[in-house]
Amino acid sequence: MIVCVCRAVSDRQIRSSVRDGAQTMSQLRAELGVTACCGKCGPRVRELLDEHRAGEARGVAGLACACAAA
Ligand code: FES
Repeated sequence: MIVCVCRAVSDRQIRSSVRDGAQTMSQLRAELGVTACCGKCGPRVRELLDEHRAGEARGVAGLACACAAA
């Protein structure tokens, strides 16, 4: 689904950039151009970034539990 209409950037592209190392809104703006025009995509881009961070935190917590149990 297109998230940034101005730059025709999809949620898949944003997720891919985040998986490849983009960690901030500025990095996503530099890489993909999101939020660089009207800015209306900003909240959804932020949500995608936060979702990734939350997923990483759950993964780290899961690994910590597995290590503790081993
Ligand atoms: S919708 Fe992303 S800059 Fe306009």
